[in-house]
Amino acid sequence: MNNRRPLRNSRFACILSSLIVASVASFFSALFLLSHHPLELTIPGGHPTSASDDGLTIIHVGPSSKRSFAWNPSERYLAYLPHSGFHNQRIALENALVLARILNRTLLVPPAHLGNNVFSYHKFDELYRLLVHSGKQGLLHCSKVPSRISPPECWGYHDYTHVSWDWLVDLSSVALEQPVCHHVLFTYPWLENPPPDADILELRDQTAYDFRFVDYTPAPDAPSHPRYHTAYPIATLAASDAQLIQLGSLFGSARLHLSDRGHRTARTAIRERMAFANPYLRRASLAAAHALGGPDAFLAAHVRLANGPFLAVQTQTVRVAWYRLVACALRGANASAGGSAQVHALERRLVPANAELPPPREALRLDIDYVSPVAPPGGGAMGASACAGKQWHEEHALAALNVPLFVATDMEDAPALAPLRAAFPCMVLMKDLVLSEVRALGRLVNAEDGVRLGPFLVPLLEAAIAAQAWAVVGTEGSTFSAYVEDLLWQREHGRQIVQRG
Ligand SMILES: *[C@@H]1O[C@H](CO)[C@@H](O)[C@H](O)[C@H]1NC(C)=O
Ligand SMILES: *[C@@H]1O[C@H](CO)[C@@H](O)[C@H](O)[C@H]1NC(C)=O
Repeated sequence: MNNRRPLRNSRFACILSSLIVASVASFFSALFLLSHHPLELTIPGGHPTSASDDGLTIIHVGPSSKRSFAWNPSERYLAYLPHSGFHNQRIALENALVLARILNRTLLVPPAHLGNNVFSYHKFDELYRLLVHSGKQGLLHCSKVPSRISPPECWGYHDYTHVSWDWLVDLSSVALEQPVCHHVLFTYPWLENPPPDADILELRDQTAYDFRFVDYTPAPDAPSHPRYHTAYPIATLAASDAQLIQLGSLFGSARLHLSDRGHRTARTAIRERMAFANPYLRRASLAAAHALGGPDAFLAAHVRLANGPFLAVQTQTVRVAWYRLVACALRGANASAGGSAQVHALERRLVPANAELPPPREALRLDIDYVSPVAPPGGGAMGASACAGKQWHEEHALAALNVPLFVATDMEDAPALAPLRAAFPCMVLMKDLVLSEVRALGRLVNAEDGVRLGPFLVPLLEAAIAAQAWAVVGTEGSTFSAYVEDLLWQREHGRQIVQRG
């Protein structure tokens, strides 16, 4: 009975300190926005940011409490090893929050790694070691050294940074329902100093798909999952009294297989909280949507072209997006238009290079969620400042394609995008959105390590803009696309999120 109290108190302290930190942070963000807004408007348009530090905005991107991490003997914890790009980290965090809630353990939330050089999956011991050394302690001088003369310990210093998850998404309501601990210094003290007496249950994976966590007893003769090797009962974890349960990879939207209705409800509740709640992102994305004619006045696409498997199929990716976007644009003007035969006929006309090709197989599935565009396509586009000076389609049959189209892509110069430009005279890329609010985002500097946040926030901004379109089309197999289509767009339009896995 007696040892319950300190536990509850410490959890309460953890929640309370998160809340205080969150409110102090929002207060300062608000103060910042208020005090800096007029300043930003006076910066003349079109001028590149000067090479000096002038105009940079130094901000705190994490809990500012200086409370150092210490194990509380009466508290039980869950930790995991994050890896890979932003969206894979986000999915892992969702899974971890769900597991921690089911296990009634405090989740040790890692920082979000942003950057070009995030770790890909490594075996447990290796990833553990990489994360322990991923902090920037002792390297802060690197932020002051110009990169051309930087000493070896500073190489790559500016290629990545860490922010607290609750700087990006609002986890305060999750923290009211389950204990979570964010650490201050963007390090992993729980990895560096594991609990005393080695009171740990470690699940050391050797591949990214070793363990799938299930909330039932797997039948001994059950066919194995095509991807995951072992179905690991959550009940086995729940039976452990170890102070820390240390898991490896938790990424993958099929990582948890839940049959219990309460568990599934908890997962939905947690996934729904994963929309961006960052004031800088919000401000910049609203300004961008406004330049595109306003929320629900434009179409959006996420076209992933760079790297790995996406590089090899650029033409096909753009072609499938083309079919879906043209179908959407036609339907926005006339709900019974936009069948695949009609789109195919337009393709033969507007993209002569594809004239001999049969329609892509994916063109049979042109079912895209959309809301009615706020202004009729063809009428609204002329009012969008981002479309000023474009050559419109004059012909009545093509008028629907005059709708502004925002294309978020990791390769803005790709010749593969030409068919989209041919169909949509007002195709707008991130680089075309020269707006003071967008530049303000680009000037943010992480106070913790002096690294510019702007380049790392651009993809998140693109996602936040696309979510405000009247319809959004993504790239098959991209977790970024899935985030925009299944979560951000749905939330932005007051709909239920779409769940896969
Ligand atoms: C979770 O843990 C707390 C503290 O040990 C305990 O009071 C509570 O009953 C637990 N909840 C469940 C559902 O087991
Ligand atoms: C809407 O599209 C359908 C199918 O293409 C067509 O038959 C109909 O005439 C169109 N309506 C208008 C008002 O253009």
